[in-house]
Amino acid sequence: MKHLISVQDLSRTDTLHILDTARELDRVTNGGIKLLPTLRGRTVVNLFYEDSTRTRLSFERAAKRLSADVVTVSAKGSSLSKGESLKDTALTLNAMGADMIVVRHPSPGAAHRLAHAGWLDSRVLNAGDGKHEHPTQALADALTIRARLRPEAVDFDGLTIGIVGDVLHSRVARSNIFLLASLGANVVVIGPPTLLPVRIENWPCTVSYSLDAALPELDVIMMLRVQQERMNGTFFPSELEYSRSFGLNRSRAAALPTHAIVMHPGPMNRGVEITAEVADGTRSVITEQVANGLKVRMAIMYLLIGGDVSVA
Ligand code: CP
Repeated sequence: MKHLISVQDLSRTDTLHILDTARELDRVTNGGIKLLPTLRGRTVVNLFYEDSTRTRLSFERAAKRLSADVVTVSAKGSSLSKGESLKDTALTLNAMGADMIVVRHPSPGAAHRLAHAGWLDSRVLNAGDGKHEHPTQALADALTIRARLRPEAVDFDGLTIGIVGDVLHSRVARSNIFLLASLGANVVVIGPPTLLPVRIENWPCTVSYSLDAALPELDVIMMLRVQQERMNGTFFPSELEYSRSFGLNRSRAAALPTHAIVMHPGPMNRGVEITAEVADGTRSVITEQVANGLKVRMAIMYLLIGGDVSVA
């Protein structure tokens, strides 16, 4: 694997190798070795055309923990804001000797174009391309589910995972549906028909329009942010109406099995898709998802440009 653009490019074996490597790197760095020399002398560029807190910071921290030189280029404060093209930006970064480019872009396909247009010698990691994919978020989520519910098992056979809400605009949902299904999970997508993609019946998931009916069956419930910024029309009557039907609140959380965990990729709209009480409650693994994001991003960088060797 040269680039990471889509989880659909990963075999089940690739995914398990990344998750195992993340766990191993975590073991090494928690064992007292805070900085690994693996990427010493390598340059990682974070190229962010869209805002980010978790993804950008964890890619920066992951690269630094592997001793890479890290440069962050954001739309604000660079020539991206003057309208410089993706091609000219890529040629510039290539001329500066970037070994890896981590890109977030509002257009689906931008990461693929960057990787395959022939502008770059470097590896490309997709940090979110429009509504298309967010592969490292799905890997972070898989690592979180594994740590909580399948610590000794290889895959997710027998787990039912509900992904709830604005699936239509969510790159996180798309990456998670394909990745979690490839690991053997039974994925159920739950939301109003207006917020589900057309032809979702061709995706590896089932569909439910009733959150209340689905709750008792779920081992994992993953709430999605309502992405108002990607909506150019009315997809539901009001936020109140939406949260009444599809928001996770205390009484709905009580209808989940006792072992079930609550996830959200962030950023959250507290009070819309999830109440503050549930987001901060004992079932919530939302901050674990953030911590695991750092681990899987270290693993991906390690495997793509650090040399795929044992870290034991
Ligand atoms: N989950 C996620 O991608 O968050 P950010 O937009 O803050 O990176």
